[in-house]
Amino acid sequence: MKVLGIESSCDETAAAVVEDGRRLLSNVVASSMDIHVQYGGVVPELAARSHIEAIMPVIQQALRDAACDWDDIDAIAVTYGAGLGGSLLVGVLTARTLAIIKRKPLYAINHVEAHVYANFLTSTPLPGYALPAAAPRFPLLALIVSGGHSQLVLFRDHFDYTLLGQTQDDAIGEAFDKIAKILGLPYPGGPSVGKKALEGNPHAFSLPKARLQGKYDLSFSGPKTAVLRLAQELVGKDHTLHSSALPALLSEQQKADIAASFQRVAIETVVDKTMLAYEEFQPASVVIAGGVASSTELRRQLAQRLPQPIAYTDPKLCTDNGAMVATLGCFLAQHQRPAADPFGLEIAPNLSM
Ligand code: KG4
Ligand code: ZN
Repeated sequence: MKVLGIESSCDETAAAVVEDGRRLLSNVVASSMDIHVQYGGVVPELAARSHIEAIMPVIQQALRDAACDWDDIDAIAVTYGAGLGGSLLVGVLTARTLAIIKRKPLYAINHVEAHVYANFLTSTPLPGYALPAAAPRFPLLALIVSGGHSQLVLFRDHFDYTLLGQTQDDAIGEAFDKIAKILGLPYPGGPSVGKKALEGNPHAFSLPKARLQGKYDLSFSGPKTAVLRLAQELVGKDHTLHSSALPALLSEQQKADIAASFQRVAIETVVDKTMLAYEEFQPASVVIAGGVASSTELRRQLAQRLPQPIAYTDPKLCTDNGAMVATLGCFLAQHQRPAADPFGLEIAPNLSM
């Protein structure tokens, strides 16, 4: 079975073809990041406009790369939430139209759930991908860390999961993006803070870790505010100094030490919770998913602390892509889950797990 996956929830226009939920036949991603970089974050109207321009070429490229024509495609899967309304609309309306005119079943995909399914891909003819040798097993503990989500989910089986806990304020990726702004580093913040951190001392500053009511809940607004206050103090100013003035006043070493200290604390926070859940639920597999799952520091800390080996997927499959959408679509089809109505599927910008 071959499924075409379409993803447009944020600033990536993406499409991919996946076979049987494990073999990646194509993976095309067009990002409008270069447009958003100059604004320091994603501008929703510009993202939606870029999706309109990119979506059909991206889908056609995904079919070509997979050496497929429409007759070879068994179903279409599309992200219908969570995400930016205007961006989701482009993907969903395109998928609905294609499902109708090409007469294919349409599967509505939850973006956050799909991130987890990137880990089920184990083979590909495409060059340049490092995939795990085997699919994860259930019960499966998933740490989902992206620009919009930070949560721990326990899957007993496909489609049978419990949300153990989630962030009460900012997502971890969002916090990285905000720290990058304070330090004058480019968007997206995760990779740029990670790079700067290589030159700094991760123990230069102690930043607070939030204490929360829920055992598995997370919070990143406290450490973010602590970084702002620390930076203001380092340049000899008080809390009235606007954050936009900080990049010019901080030294390169101070920036590197802040980046390294923040990265250590933020990553430790999610790894601590993952270890707690690991001990309580004794999962057969642990996976990490979402853009922040490409962080080398997260991969290093988790591998160091987990008593069992952990397989990581290719970083290209951690950030938003169509492959994760197609993979979850394959499993929905294989398990005879209900298809969506191509004449009625609506977007769900606030969808949660
Ligand atoms: O999953 P994703 O592409 O989009 C959402 O669904 O949000 O995640 C984007 C987030 C951004 O906040 C970005 O800063 C972060 O993932 N990110 C990283 C890395 N690459 C992307 N964070 C840490 N280390 C990375 N290498
Ligand atoms: Zn995402």
